[in-house]
Amino acid sequence: MRISFVALISVLALQPQHTLSRSIIPRDGKGDFFTPIGVAVGNEPTSQVGCVAKFQLTPSSPVATLDYGSEVAGYPVFNVHAVSGKVQIEVKYTEEFRGLNSNYSDGPFTFSIGLSNTYRVETFEVTETGPLQAYLLQGGQRWQSIRLLTSGSITFSSVGFEASIPKSDIDNLPGSFESDDNNLNHIWSLGAKSVAVACLEKGTQKAIWDVGKDGAFVRGMRAGLSDQGAFLKDYTLEFEAKIERAGLGWAIAHPLASPAKGIQLNLVGNLPPETSFINTNTSLTPPNSTWHTIKTSLSNGQYIAVAIDETQIFNVSLKNYYVGGAAIPTNGSFGFGGLPDQSGYFRNVVVSDTVNKTVLYKNALTDPSKVIAEYGVHENYGSVCLDGPKRDRLIWLGDYYHTIRVIGASTSRYDLAKGTLELFLDWQSPSGLLPYNPYMSYDPSTAFDAFNRGGIGAVAGREVWSLILTDYQILGLLSMTDYVRLSGDLDFVRRTWSKWQLQVDWLLNQISPSTGLLALIGGFLGPSNGDSASSCALVQAFHNLADIAEALGDTAAKTKYQTAAVALSDAINKYLWNASLGLYSLSTASIGNYSVNGMAFCITSGTANATQSAQLLSALPSLKLGPGYRDSTLVNVSDPSTNISPNTNGFLLAALLSQRTISAAQTSMELMRSLWLPMLANRETSTGASWEYVNVGGDPGLGLYTSLAHPWGGAPTYLLTEHVAGIQTAKGPSGFGYQNWVVDPFGGIAMGIKRASASVVTAFEGNVEVKWQIDDGGMIDVTIKAPRQTKGVFKLNGAARFLSGSSIYRFREKI
Ligand SMILES: *[C@@H]1O[C@H](CO)[C@@H](O)[C@H](O)[C@H]1NC(C)=O
Ligand SMILES: *[C@@H]1O[C@H](CO)[C@@H](O)[C@H](O)[C@H]1NC(C)=O
Ligand SMILES: *[C@@H]1O[C@H](CO)[C@@H](O)[C@H](O)[C@H]1NC(C)=O
Ligand SMILES: *[C@@H]1O[C@H](CO)[C@@H](O)[C@H](O)[C@H]1NC(C)=O
Ligand SMILES: *[C@@H]1O[C@H](CO)[C@@H](O)[C@H](O)[C@H]1NC(C)=O
Ligand SMILES: *[C@@H]1O[C@H](CO)[C@@H](O)[C@H](O)[C@H]1NC(C)=O
Ligand SMILES: *[C@@H]1O[C@H](CO)[C@@H](O)[C@H](O)[C@H]1NC(C)=O
Ligand SMILES: *[C@@H]1O[C@H](CO)[C@@H](O)[C@H](O)[C@H]1NC(C)=O
Ligand SMILES: *[C@@H]1O[C@H](CO)[C@@H](O)[C@H](O)[C@H]1NC(C)=O
Ligand SMILES: *[C@@H]1O[C@H](CO)[C@@H](O)[C@H](O)[C@H]1NC(C)=O
Repeated sequence: MRISFVALISVLALQPQHTLSRSIIPRDGKGDFFTPIGVAVGNEPTSQVGCVAKFQLTPSSPVATLDYGSEVAGYPVFNVHAVSGKVQIEVKYTEEFRGLNSNYSDGPFTFSIGLSNTYRVETFEVTETGPLQAYLLQGGQRWQSIRLLTSGSITFSSVGFEASIPKSDIDNLPGSFESDDNNLNHIWSLGAKSVAVACLEKGTQKAIWDVGKDGAFVRGMRAGLSDQGAFLKDYTLEFEAKIERAGLGWAIAHPLASPAKGIQLNLVGNLPPETSFINTNTSLTPPNSTWHTIKTSLSNGQYIAVAIDETQIFNVSLKNYYVGGAAIPTNGSFGFGGLPDQSGYFRNVVVSDTVNKTVLYKNALTDPSKVIAEYGVHENYGSVCLDGPKRDRLIWLGDYYHTIRVIGASTSRYDLAKGTLELFLDWQSPSGLLPYNPYMSYDPSTAFDAFNRGGIGAVAGREVWSLILTDYQILGLLSMTDYVRLSGDLDFVRRTWSKWQLQVDWLLNQISPSTGLLALIGGFLGPSNGDSASSCALVQAFHNLADIAEALGDTAAKTKYQTAAVALSDAINKYLWNASLGLYSLSTASIGNYSVNGMAFCITSGTANATQSAQLLSALPSLKLGPGYRDSTLVNVSDPSTNISPNTNGFLLAALLSQRTISAAQTSMELMRSLWLPMLANRETSTGASWEYVNVGGDPGLGLYTSLAHPWGGAPTYLLTEHVAGIQTAKGPSGFGYQNWVVDPFGGIAMGIKRASASVVTAFEGNVEVKWQIDDGGMIDVTIKAPRQTKGVFKLNGAARFLSGSSIYRFREKI
């Protein structure tokens, strides 16, 4: 997900002293490591790396490039073999190689606090040999550079990352896929890799403030915001601060959650040259080892004044700062952070009403239990899947739709999948809504109200946080129903059923009594009010929920959801199906326009019958753009910044493959090749994982900002397993956990595949594994292994072969 970021940074200049401290903090050194597969040393970064060995940086050969071969994540580690003279090194981290040639690498990532370094460039002074470890996590990268900035020299025996994610071997996962088409094999691994790097175990992303008797020590970062400040307005924030290095920053009148819009201030000092980092950007930065009292006052909905040690530095009207749109407000929370390589201490925070002076908040910032959670810098509370490991590092509800199915086909880390669903429920609102992008570092039991009503700006009494992208509620529900279907974890849904029902009731209440269509405010899939995409997605959710209700023996709920599915699909066919055009219109307000999401969900939900589906897909060529399909007819084809979304194209791919026609299978093959092969084509952009956006030229769609490890782009992983190798759960509750399975290799055969194999983890003893091969005589040899308690059907040419009572089945058929 992406929403643009606006911030105001005012810079204050002080004239204090500077001390340079070691910023490399040794950690415990335990755990797994990621090490590079190639290293090069020269004058500039290069993607042409050689063997990994000990390497030296000198003024004549100052730059090392390290290639990790694919996406890795962790706490940077440097094993220093020798150091002589003055040594400062500037280290960059990036997914795309090109970031190494950019001043800020592929960052900064100011959208949220991700328990990682906001910045992708950091500088260290090295004075001794031995292992050194950076304090802040780098969440996702393939490439790293180390540039010697000074006249000394340094030799590294090794460099790497202490792993912050499970180290998994993508070629040996519990779920697998293999065929005679190597392109498809590589495409399958893109999604697998993305969930392997985006899904995290509880507690592995460490807290990022050190709190003790001296206060909170904060390294430069997007400000960590207090969950106690969401509803403040026209207040005065006072605290003591001491610069440890370069400067420090604080935020005020800042919304808690993304999109980040707020006032950010930075205190900097002079930079004594002998102790300064040589690459410090003096246009913005530095320090003093003395505590200062800093007072920031907001008043009259308009003024901001800052005083340091009782001396007023400025008092200005925010109306004079144009940031686009409305004036900068004086309400919202406060917090502490700073610019790259800055660090400092904060203590004795007092917030009072600017006019009547009533004290509203007090915190000495010396007790970790009263700081870390409140400011959202606590280690991750649950096991969760992020939208991407490098950014936004939030748990986006709608992005989870593909993620859960990719997990099912590859890593099978259902523990992490369930953790994610539990985290959504931990933040559920009383009316049933799930948060659209919760953080992993705030405590829902204390921060819920602040986020729910104040997350993106306080509107008293309203659940603003959950009302963004409301159709994500549907994608979240579908993630849950697919989790239950694939894992067979009925215990989870039995335990949480009332919470899901509450959420469904909220959605049912959003159905317009006049049209019977879903009428939401704000959507991702489409216009969301009377539109085909979100209404059809909800039909799909109702069908899946009815299956779960049946499995739980809740017949009342089953009837309720089945009835709702029929009524909603009837309304869609009545108001949105345009028979003369052969299309579902985008929405009742946009007859004749249409979208990939509308087509996809109206087909996969069964809202469209076979005739309608075929008609719909015949309109697909008009959406073709660059390497895939544009989201809808509203998208400007001549705008060079138009992006193709592997997420929405993934919905479409599922619809195409569900057709079981040769032409749709071939279109699917073309789409996979055109949209997903570019993610593998160039070692300077490939991370081994699926991307967030692809531009019309086949490159990362949002430039260096693009997440190159985004599970929402990984749909081919599960679709290849389901439709090329052909392993599927049987329809209905009897298919949960693969108790009943189907092997249907139609898609693979139609694509011209001659050999395929795959395996999936089941809820029973063992996997379902299928292996088939077509010989020159047009015969197919099939071997299926499955837990003895399960049974299945092999489908070919309209015929079905029923398989049960064994754990291995071998047969040969004419195709
Ligand atoms: C830090 O700055 C303050 C204010 O400019 C100054 O009074 C103080 O002497 C400085 N501290 C040191 C240790 O130099
Ligand atoms: C990068 O840094 C150089 C040197 O300071 C400067 O000239 C250039 O404008 C910077 N580029 C960007 C994009 O900030
Ligand atoms: C230094 O900061 C200024 C202001 O943000 C920026 O324009 C410039 O590109 C920066 N230079 C470098 C080398 O990063
Ligand atoms: C800043 O200026 C405004 C307008 O004159 C005034 O109302 C406010 O009290 C001033 N704030 C401080 C802290 O002096
Ligand atoms: C002072 O202002 C706060 C709100 O900022 C309010 O809750 C409180 O009642 C006020 N106190 C007095 C004495 O006016
Ligand atoms: C500030 O208040 C306005 C008006 O109530 C509201 O729209 C906005 O979201 C608030 N902003 C923050 C950051 O709380
Ligand atoms: C389709 O959308 C475009 C762009 O918003 C609009 O100009 C056009 O009128 C729409 N077509 C119909 C039939 O509503
Ligand atoms: C179908 O679309 C055509 C062309 O946009 C329009 O004129 C007609 O009114 C639509 N019919 C229905 C039933 O929406
Ligand atoms: C498919 O649906 C359309 C629109 O509701 C209907 O006119 C048509 O008869 C249906 N076709 C079949 C084969 O059911
Ligand atoms: C489409 O994009 C082109 C190129 O950027 C631009 O000139 C044109 O105005 C855009 N059209 C619309 C309808 O926005």
